[in-house]
Amino acid sequence: MSILDTIKKRRSIRIFKPDKVSKKEINSIIEAGIWAPSSGNTKPFKFLILDDRDKINEFFALTLESIVRWKKEAAKKKGISLTELYENYKKYLDGIKKAPVFIFVFLDLEKGAHSFTDGNVPHLVSNGYLYNSLRDSVFLCVENMLLEATALGLGSLYFELPSASKTPINKLFSINNSNEFFTCIPIGYADEEPPADERTVEDFLLDII
Ligand SMILES: Cc1cc2nc3c(=O)[nH]c(=O)nc-3n(C[C@H](O)[C@H](O)[C@H](O)COP(=O)(O)O)c2cc1C
Repeated sequence: MSILDTIKKRRSIRIFKPDKVSKKEINSIIEAGIWAPSSGNTKPFKFLILDDRDKINEFFALTLESIVRWKKEAAKKKGISLTELYENYKKYLDGIKKAPVFIFVFLDLEKGAHSFTDGNVPHLVSNGYLYNSLRDSVFLCVENMLLEATALGLGSLYFELPSASKTPINKLFSINNSNEFFTCIPIGYADEEPPADERTVEDFLLDII
């Protein structure tokens, strides 16, 4: 499959089959990530592979709670009750939770701080430009991973969690806070076929000069 075909084939999958994914496939997805371009070639990525069902359940309980807290005010303004909000997100997360394995992606702030500043993590984080360039690097790493999963016939998803859940996630896995939680990618076989909306290059062109 050409790279363009793989790019077009990738869909965000939110309902997974429980079928197992091999270690080799997980390894090759991470390998695709670490070959992404990165600011100053820092490669500021760290990964955690999670396939333990009890820990997966703990992670999703924490996620549901933090998303509901995060969305509560906006839902209230729209007239959505707390129960409805909870049920909606529970249903959405239950589909994702079925994936057999999750790759957690962290931003290695210490590596970034040593590459870009005096090695002090708070100095790095307070410098928006440098910090963002590291975050951009992790985004590219994640996109490579999503594409490799697609090329292997596997489903995946980029999904966002409230920033308040970062520290509890590190605590859950006993990960040092110098590794900043970035995202968690479910990997597995898709149990849905989301349609792709059509688009053409012309729709996005400002001009040809
Ligand atoms: C920055 C970013 C944040 C996203 N956050 C979420 C999310 O929190 N939950 C989710 O289900 N999908 C999330 N997505 C996936 C998008 O909804 C999805 O890419 C978009 O609807 C297009 O669908 P496709 O990925 O199947 O082409 C996110 C995607 C990006 C790039």
